Amino acid sequence: MSGNWKMYKTPAETIAFFEKFRPLVEKSEHCEIVICPPFTNLAAAVGAVQGSNIRIGAQNIGWAKEGAFTGEISGPMLKAVGVTHTIVGHSERRQYFGETDETVLQRTRAALEFGLSPIVCVGERLEEREGGATEAVLARQFQKGIAELSEQQFAKIVIAYEPVWAIGTGKTATPDIAAGAHRTIRAQVRDKFGKDAADAVRILYGGSVSPENVKALMAQPEIDGVLVGGKSLDALSFASIVNF
Ligand code: PGA
Repeated sequence: MSGNWKMYKTPAETIAFFEKFRPLVEKSEHCEIVICPPFTNLAAAVGAVQGSNIRIGAQNIGWAKEGAFTGEISGPMLKAVGVTHTIVGHSERRQYFGETDETVLQRTRAALEFGLSPIVCVGERLEEREGGATEAVLARQFQKGIAELSEQQFAKIVIAYEPVWAIGTGKTATPDIAAGAHRTIRAQVRDKFGKDAADAVRILYGGSVSPENVKALMAQPEIDGVLVGGKSLDALSFASIVNF
């Protein structure tokens, strides 16, 4: 169960969040919990979850170890702060910041190289879904990204299906729509990496997940977890999602 805070919260707000959130999930052993705050809050977040079952992820990762890449943060820098996961290829990165299938792959490889677990996002835009291109888009993103990984690398990733039209819009994919897309992705995994890999990979759903709809989504056997934006900002709301 993962939270993506996007561009919200200061370090002080981060600490206040975890003071409230920690006790609400300390007995939650049915899942892994990962929260991805902005870079400037990572150190505060790692400090605030020490000794708990909560892990901290970044929202992006630079593809190089270090170098002249203004505005980027590298894997070794994230590791040094105590971060264990990172989102890559979020649709907001693709849509507003020029992220491409190629750079998403580079960032995924960097996460793996530097020992972070990547949460690799895929998903179609509204016009692509309405134009019947969902499967083709998921296939392209898979072929140009995840399919380029080795079997060993693949075993370490988590995939997040995030239909762009459902993110921050209040329009959740119905459990059936989400499960259908998850089946498409799992079939691609099976074709490329085999049945065991397809059974083992965790595929999260993301897009307007809330305390109200999480149960129905998680009731789909295809959906292994969720990536939550807006509703992960409030400790009570995200805890009730985690403890659905
Ligand atoms: P949302 O965001 O839950 O606010 O729709 C999900 C995401 O972008 O990961």
